Amino acid sequence: MKKVLTITALAEVGIGVGLIVVPSLVARLLLGTDLAGVADPLARVARERYGQFLSEAEQSLMDEDMAFVASRSATRYPYTNGAVAALAGFIVMAIISVTVQLVAGESVGAGKLVATALLGNGDNLVVVRPNYATNLETPRAIGCDISFIDLTFDDGFALDPERIELAIKPSTRLVSITCPHNPTGTSIGEAELQRIVEITAQRGVMLLVDETYRDLALTPALPIAATLGKHVVSVSSLSKAFGAPGIRVGWIINTDPAIQEVFLAAKEQISICGSIINEWVAEGILSQKRAFLTRTLTEWRRRLDRIADWVGGEELLDWVRPAGGVVCFPRMKAEPAGGTDAFYRRLLQDHGTYVGPGHWFEMPDTFFRLGYAWPTADELEGGLAGISAALRG
Ligand SMILES: Cc1ncc(COP(=O)(O)O)c(C=O)c1O
Repeated sequence: MKKVLTITALAEVGIGVGLIVVPSLVARLLLGTDLAGVADPLARVARERYGQFLSEAEQSLMDEDMAFVASRSATRYPYTNGAVAALAGFIVMAIISVTVQLVAGESVGAGKLVATALLGNGDNLVVVRPNYATNLETPRAIGCDISFIDLTFDDGFALDPERIELAIKPSTRLVSITCPHNPTGTSIGEAELQRIVEITAQRGVMLLVDETYRDLALTPALPIAATLGKHVVSVSSLSKAFGAPGIRVGWIINTDPAIQEVFLAAKEQISICGSIINEWVAEGILSQKRAFLTRTLTEWRRRLDRIADWVGGEELLDWVRPAGGVVCFPRMKAEPAGGTDAFYRRLLQDHGTYVGPGHWFEMPDTFFRLGYAWPTADELEGGLAGISAALRG
């Protein structure tokens, strides 16, 4: 603590500007108490949540580490892109020697950053629909001309790469896909991914792959898309497979240093830097990636099987069985009693169950997105029973 305060004081003397000295002195008074009080609770929370994954030696270092992290984050803009990004994309590091990566808020932030950095008003974007809302809304807010690739239930929500080829125009700057997909949980295979990479390279457009669910796949995980071409950008985060959405840490992977410079400049404008405390926790999680994933994947498969059983026995619903992710997108075979609005109201009011109605995804409300990973096992059972009851009026 003393050291931190000394450095701050020296900086003040060195700069010698009243405007900086005054706020800094105020901050110093506040931080003098804050830092001491903050490090301990942080270490405690981190130990409770992640302690089981840490060795005793690591646990005993935690208090000391936390005090350091708290002090650094309070006294300067931290740039810690290296460690988290390297861990997140360590496979990339093994495959290619020069890989530039950036820690960028979280998945939603990373996607927004890519869109705002690469797209301008009037640029064309080719994007899959339905989709995670941000992947459509950010380009809309920018004023892009959007060409949709609409996935259909009858085609098993499959994405045919040749439709992307047909949709690309001279003004297209970016093709955007999500895989495994939200809200359907479907996935393309490696051959399709390779083909989309090839098409976009041939047509000279960038490819954004939202890989937030990549580590939650029933089929062997696809390669990190960014390893397949310099024009490809992958985004992902700790939110889903690692079960740590509150940490708000995600990353962008791309192998073209010139493009990464653009992302870095965009990040500077949007957030300057990430929270060093969050990145510190993220580093801890990613350094034990296997332990986290093994536990998550076992429970995830069990739940997906349970949903499959339930849909199989629910004569009022159809679905396309997901290949990954933590959501699925069932379809009602007919309008429920009183219509879809009445169904969603009953479901929430009478059964305390909330699902994502189809219109969130620009689809009819006879579709709904069901997320099955977050609730407890009991809550999930209650929710499934609630849906069956609400469908019947
Ligand atoms: C496909 C997809 N991308 C991005 C996100 C945002 O994730 P994060 O919490 O990391 O911002 C989500 C969250 O639901 C998602 O489903």
